[in-house]
Amino acid sequence: MATLEVQKNEKVFQRDLESKVAIVTGAASGIGRATALLFAERGAYVVGEDINPAVQELTSSSDRILPFVGDVASENSAKQVVALALERFGKLDILVNNAGIIKYTRVSDLTLEEWNSILSVNLTGAFLHSREAVRAMSPKKSGAIVNIGSYACFFGFPEIGAYAASKGGLAQLTRVLAVESIPHGIRVNAVGSGDVVTNILNHFIPNGRDFLTQHGNTAPIGRPAQPEEIAEVAAFLASDKASYIVGSVVMADGGFSVQVGPTSTRPS
Ligand SMILES: NC(=O)c1ccc[n+]([C@@H]2O[C@H](COP(=O)([O-])OP(=O)(O)OC[C@H]3O[C@@H](n4cnc5c(N)ncnc54)[C@H](O)[C@@H]3O)[C@@H](O)[C@H]2O)c1
Repeated sequence: MATLEVQKNEKVFQRDLESKVAIVTGAASGIGRATALLFAERGAYVVGEDINPAVQELTSSSDRILPFVGDVASENSAKQVVALALERFGKLDILVNNAGIIKYTRVSDLTLEEWNSILSVNLTGAFLHSREAVRAMSPKKSGAIVNIGSYACFFGFPEIGAYAASKGGLAQLTRVLAVESIPHGIRVNAVGSGDVVTNILNHFIPNGRDFLTQHGNTAPIGRPAQPEEIAEVAAFLASDKASYIVGSVVMADGGFSVQVGPTSTRPS
């Protein structure tokens, strides 16, 4: 009974995104879906963008989410989704650049088409949406942009050359845009996510969620994240509580990036 009471109170107090207007890309699935739902629960109005028309199903979970079917790599989509937020909700406070894709291929086997498609979604999409968002946020001198990065912002693994290049680029875009935008009251940050159990690998392996779970189990925390845990970090960075955080890649990876090698160095 007492626990229920606390949970209820938490819901009442956690309205730190009340009346904020947010765009979340890649909102149909995984981290983007969890972020759109969490933002709405915290009081925000959300435009959820995805190339997958399944994004429209979000309306059955929250009446604060307006779906938009679009390809983040398209300049037109970026302009349209920001225009939609302004038209329907009168302003734009938050952009979460979350849409992303991955492919496992060694660089020596990667085609130009594959390279371009990963870079265009993960990096160019974030650039296009950030540019339009900054233009919309600057006149009101406030806003927050959160990019969903990865430990691949900093570290290399075999077979993810294009993905790691896109996430490394996203970290640098975060830093440069942060210093350009903070004089206009806009904070830009990123989340350095570890393994999260989502469908991101399902396009090319049947057991993608199992693979992410197994890989996540090798992090010092001993498990992968659930999408909601990354959404919490995005919500914090998007909120006024993160008022002094500018240009950071905040790691939420269960300690993956601070562990050097998988084994103990204790002499036996
Ligand atoms: N799952 C992980 O382990 C993990 C780890 C680190 C970082 N990330 C990052 O988190 C973000 C979300 O990934 P996820 O794991 O939730 O994957 P997911 O596949 O569950 O969700 C990604 C969403 O992006 C959408 N999308 C793909 N291409 C798009 C495009 N061109 N335009 C619009 N929408 C598009 C997909 O339709 C999907 O709904 C990605 O940027 C990913 O790189 C994921």
